[in-house]
Amino acid sequence: MDSLLIVGGRSLQGTVPISGAKNAALPLACAALLTADPLRLSNLPALRDVSTLIDLLGRMGVVAQREAGTVTLQAAQVSEPFADYEMVKTMRASILVLGPLIARCGHARVSLPGGCAIGQRPVDLHIKGLVAMGARIEVNHGYIEAHAERLRGARIVMDMVTVTGTENLMMAATLAEGTTLLENAAREPEVVDLALCLNAMGARVSGAGTDVITIEGVSALHGADHRIMPDRIETGTFLAAVAATGGDVRLDGTDAGSLDAVIDKLRESGAHIEIGTGWMRVAASNRPLAVNFRTAPYPAFPTDMQAQLMTLDCIARGTAVIAETIFENRFMHALELRRMGAEIELSGNTAVVRGVPQLQGARVMATDLRASASLVIAGLIAEGETLIDRIYHLDRGYESIETKLCNLGADVRRVRGAAGSA
Ligand code: UD1
Repeated sequence: MDSLLIVGGRSLQGTVPISGAKNAALPLACAALLTADPLRLSNLPALRDVSTLIDLLGRMGVVAQREAGTVTLQAAQVSEPFADYEMVKTMRASILVLGPLIARCGHARVSLPGGCAIGQRPVDLHIKGLVAMGARIEVNHGYIEAHAERLRGARIVMDMVTVTGTENLMMAATLAEGTTLLENAAREPEVVDLALCLNAMGARVSGAGTDVITIEGVSALHGADHRIMPDRIETGTFLAAVAATGGDVRLDGTDAGSLDAVIDKLRESGAHIEIGTGWMRVAASNRPLAVNFRTAPYPAFPTDMQAQLMTLDCIARGTAVIAETIFENRFMHALELRRMGAEIELSGNTAVVRGVPQLQGARVMATDLRASASLVIAGLIAEGETLIDRIYHLDRGYESIETKLCNLGADVRRVRGAAGSA
């Protein structure tokens, strides 16, 4: 298993290209199941999760043609509307095939996702919504078995804001008979990106980006060409890295419009952020100021940026209080950061971080995707060497992270199959 070796203490300078968004690419690729025509997606990030999903679609009969940065997916026929446990276990977002499969094929068999490092993450709301649309669903031997001759429009009030739940139901509703109303829908920009693509395919979706989405069902969708939105979490991660280490970096191919809450907090910490069309620039020279924050659904502060901002607070002047309201176990990185000298107290969903002047390099273990990103930032600011084990998590969601960081002047090296990292 690969590890990442980081020698800390260098400031970051230069320009970094931002990739297409993982969390937009995954539902967009599943949308290919809704039509027999080709769906071409550009700005496709080269990530393990994206390849895993394309493999999963391939097993269902979807033909994928990949060129640099684009994929054309064609589901002329869906031979196997089936997602097995092995696939869903490696990537929970595989559940996004469920809605499109029922809508297109009238039946689906998808493994129920199991446990997760950051919280329980049930999919009950996906199931409840599909049942409201007329699907008959049973869970047998760990698999969701769903049937429906044709889904019908329904008014669905979601108990909680769920991103993939909203996306699954929105995709299913495009081919339903009648109109579906999704209330308390997720407002995340990735939901809007999916709605744009579905509309380009002939769907009638309105209200995406608000908490009520209306979908008028149509009898068939056609192919389309769609450019995947920039990754707001990768953008935020580089902004946080510069705010913590110091330096001056331009981010190209990004969109500041989806990052207001993160930008506000980084400015509060003392970073200078400039915004242009398709680019941002971040500069920081002093030790940051501690910032309090609370994660919540979009447009509030994203849970996917909590770990990275916690690292910044670790070396900030002052004490920060961080509340995580989305996932019940998303502080695993705090335990690793403590091993690097951070002073963090955890109590339920709250972390109190007392800033220290310096972190020390150590051998640490990545526990999930965004926790890994927080440890990379910690390694960049720490004194000495940090070896991060289990970086396969990082490869799921950050394209060429070590190359991008090295190009900014960081000392980061991938160590292939490091001993003892299993
Ligand atoms: C998506 C993102 C993930 C991000 C998360 C929250 C993708 C591929 N992943 O994950 O990066 O961290 O949104 O912004 O887009 N819940 C239920 N029942 C359900 C569904 C969700 O109780 O049926 C709960 C979850 O346990 C969690 C909360 O709702 O506490 C939000 O989860 P959700 O928005 O569904 O996260 P994901 O869509 O899995």
